[in-house]
Amino acid sequence: MSAPIVAVIGGGQLARMMQEEASALGIHLRALVEAPDGSTALVTVDSPVGAADDAGAVRALAAGAGALTFEHEHQDDALLRALAAEGVRVRPSPDALLLARDKIAMRRAMDVAGLPQPAWTEATGDGAAIRATVRGFAAEHGWPVILKTPRGGYDGHGVLLVRQESDLEAGRAGQWIDAVATGGATGGGGSLGGGAVTSLLVEQAIPFTRELAALQARSPSGRIASWPVVETIQADGMCSEALAPAPGLDPAAADEAMRIGREIAERFDVTGVLAVELFAVEAFGEPTRLFVNELAMRPHNSGHWTQDGAVTSQFAQHLRAVLDLPLGSAEPTAGACVMVNLIGGRHEPGEDALARAMAADPEARIHLYGKSWRTGRKLGHVNLVGPADGVEALRERARAVVAILRGDA
Ligand SMILES: Nc1ncnc2c1ncn2[C@@H]1O[C@H](COP(=O)(O)OP(=O)(O)OP(=O)(O)O)[C@@H](O)[C@H]1O
Ligand SMILES: [Mg+2]
Repeated sequence: MSAPIVAVIGGGQLARMMQEEASALGIHLRALVEAPDGSTALVTVDSPVGAADDAGAVRALAAGAGALTFEHEHQDDALLRALAAEGVRVRPSPDALLLARDKIAMRRAMDVAGLPQPAWTEATGDGAAIRATVRGFAAEHGWPVILKTPRGGYDGHGVLLVRQESDLEAGRAGQWIDAVATGGATGGGGSLGGGAVTSLLVEQAIPFTRELAALQARSPSGRIASWPVVETIQADGMCSEALAPAPGLDPAAADEAMRIGREIAERFDVTGVLAVELFAVEAFGEPTRLFVNELAMRPHNSGHWTQDGAVTSQFAQHLRAVLDLPLGSAEPTAGACVMVNLIGGRHEPGEDALARAMAADPEARIHLYGKSWRTGRKLGHVNLVGPADGVEALRERARAVVAILRGDA
């Protein structure tokens, strides 16, 4: 048995957690990393430093690999297409990946597939034209509306709630519109989230009762394994908690969410892990309504619970899927699993935080990403499993451990 090679672009926590599972499965992970001291480089022996859009570096990365995959969707489309034409197994394919990279392309595709989603339109042109489009959209669908940068967004960067018409002139919405209208504004970590922006996605604001995620993996030969649908909680636009399975979710809605996930995976030939973020509108005595928010084609924060709460984690499954190996069971191993993110707080925690967190709850599964501390940065997460009727207690316990790791307790 020779170890198959998976080449991954990106050196953050997702590739790092792929490494943990690659080691167990005897898979050789080769990661193209941004820096030699990043999250993945610290644990992956074969981790050349290079840029995701450096053709030479990516070609060398993919040489001899069973698959080329990604831990983020911000890839150079032309380069991926050239590699695919050269015979590299690019997974997911460039066509599929576009739906995770470009929210307008994704919205069009969901319409073609007839899947439920917020009303939307594309606003482009000069400042007056963009404002007129937004005003016209709001006249039809009501305020508030959501503005999104089609590409380059993450963790809520690139998403803006606009409450009323006057907000289109001043403040951040006004700045965004003017930046887009002057053509090719680049966010570069600013509010536009990086990348050239020439149009805005305008969406109806869904008054959701909660957010869900449908997570599945699909292999090139068409096998699919779906994990239970989870509830996700976001704070400041960033995922902060996930509850698996989504507590008290109407079983018909859970089935529907899984059907939507499978439909997207199959229709758009997605390979590897696919996360479908959904809004749920639940009203007593009425069927739950679901709306597709966005797609991710890689392990996703909503699936970190699978490391400790499912037979096969999303990281192991992603590797199996992109190599077209048989998939593992996606069955949960406990009645409930709760994941709470560790996000850098206002002060750096003391030296003893990890030891105190371990002591506070010996059942807590602590996952740290090896990143240096920074306010607002995702640094790790904590998983806890328990009985289905104990979700709130698990949540409190996981939060307590995270509070210690954050230096808040
Ligand atoms: N149409 C909408 N209606 C209501 N809330 C929305 C809408 N679109 C986005 N949101 C809120 O903003 C959050 C972030 O939006 P979205 O998922 O599109 O952005 P992102 O930055 O790409 O996300 P991620 O953090 O998943 O990378 C959503 O999780 C949701 O809470
Ligand atoms: Mg999102």
